[in-house]
Amino acid sequence: MKKRAFSKTVMHTFDTIKMKKDIFDKLRAYAESTFKCGLHSIHGFNHWQNVDDSARLICEDSQADLVVVRFFAFLHDAFRVNDGSDLDHDPRSADNLDKLPEELSILRPDQLNLLEYAIRHHTDGNTSEDPTIGACWDSDRLDLGRVGIIPIDRFMSTQAGKEIARLGSKLLYMEKKN
Ligand SMILES: [Fe+2]
Repeated sequence: MKKRAFSKTVMHTFDTIKMKKDIFDKLRAYAESTFKCGLHSIHGFNHWQNVDDSARLICEDSQADLVVVRFFAFLHDAFRVNDGSDLDHDPRSADNLDKLPEELSILRPDQLNLLEYAIRHHTDGNTSEDPTIGACWDSDRLDLGRVGIIPIDRFMSTQAGKEIARLGSKLLYMEKKN
């Protein structure tokens, strides 16, 4: 039987996925290295992973830039110094984008601008019509259940975010979609 060769497109896709996995492993490790609130913080590792999971789901159905939203997931709370209100953690996390390690300096200037805005204003309580900024904020807000706050659809920016909040579950949202 003739052996089927992978097309260049398929190989390119594999390469891209591998590259992204490497980058996001480094991103997670960097965020962990800067974080001061400990392993079990409500703003820490589990929260970032939940935000990243929501980000990938929301970005399936929108024009949002998934790479920017995934950077947001791991960096928006990475410079918190306590689990209280820490009102300065938004500007502190945004300002620290200037100090990203070389291996994570992969974003174009327009992507960096979106990320910087999304982080700097993520606790202002606004919604956004920009699909990338909206996806960042929705992904964060959909994890409010961990602090006893039920996510509400009117505080979401994206259609997917609204629908997940209405259903109360990412799993139900995925079941409904498929
Ligand atoms: Fe957060």
